[in-house]
Amino acid sequence: MTRYLRLGINVDHVATLRNARGGAHPDPVAAARAAVAAGADGIVAHLREDRRHIRDADIRSLRQQIAKPLNFEMAATAEMLAIALDVRPHACCLVPERRTELTTEGGLDVAKHEAEFAPFIRRLTAGGIRVSLFIDPEPAQLDAAARVQAPAIELHTGTYCEAKGAAQQGELRRIAAAAAHAERLGLECHAGHGLNFDNVGPIAAIATIVELNIGHFLIGHAVFDGLGPTIARMRSMMDQNRR
Ligand code: PXP
Repeated sequence: MTRYLRLGINVDHVATLRNARGGAHPDPVAAARAAVAAGADGIVAHLREDRRHIRDADIRSLRQQIAKPLNFEMAATAEMLAIALDVRPHACCLVPERRTELTTEGGLDVAKHEAEFAPFIRRLTAGGIRVSLFIDPEPAQLDAAARVQAPAIELHTGTYCEAKGAAQQGELRRIAAAAAHAERLGLECHAGHGLNFDNVGPIAAIATIVELNIGHFLIGHAVFDGLGPTIARMRSMMDQNRR
C-alpha cells in the first residue's frame, strides 16, 4: 500500500521578510493559513535563539490560529523546552543551532550526546509532543535516535540538494538506505532542507519517507507564482513521484 506523503510548509522566511522592515507585513500566520488552504498538511516554524525570523508571539499565534499540526523546530535548550511545554505544539523537531550559521547546516550528533537527548525527549513526550530529530543520513545517528526513544527522525537532505551528477546519486542512495534503516528501527522517517521542484522527485519516491518539510524555495518561488499555486505544484510533484 502506498503511504501518503505529508507536506509541511516552513514559514520562517515570511517572517524574515516582515522583519526586514520592522512592521507586521507579511504575516507568517496569514502565510500559514494560505499554505493550509493550498494543501499543506502541517506548518513548520523555527524559533531560533537570536529570534532572527520567527518570534515567540508567532509560535503562539500559529499554535492557536492554524488548524493543522504545528511542527516547532528548536534547539535542545532549557529555554526552548520551557516554551514548547507551554505552547504544546503537535510536534517538535530538534535541530542543532549555531548563531553564525545562515541556516541549519548539519544534523544533530545524537550518538555523541545520547545522555542529554534521552531526558530532553522524555520531557517533551510526557508533554504530549511528538519529537523528531534532524540528523544526517548516517546509520550511527539513526541507531542513537532509536536508543533515545525518539518516535521520528528527519533526514537532512541538504548535501543531496547541493550535490550534482554522480555525487548527487550517491547522496540519494545514502538517504534511501537511511530511510530503510529507519523503517527497520521503527522510526517514522521525515526529510527536508534545500528541496525544490528540480530535486524533490527522487526523495518523494522513497516509499518509507512519510513527511517532507520545505520552506525557503517555496517562499521564494511564491514571489513569482503566488504561494497557493507554488504549494499546489509541489504537492502535485510529490504525489506524482510517490505513485
Ligand atoms: N527541516 C529542518 C529541520 C530545517 O531546519 C529546515 C530549514 O529551516 C527545513 C526542513 C526546511 O529547509 P528549506 O528552508 O531549505 O526548505
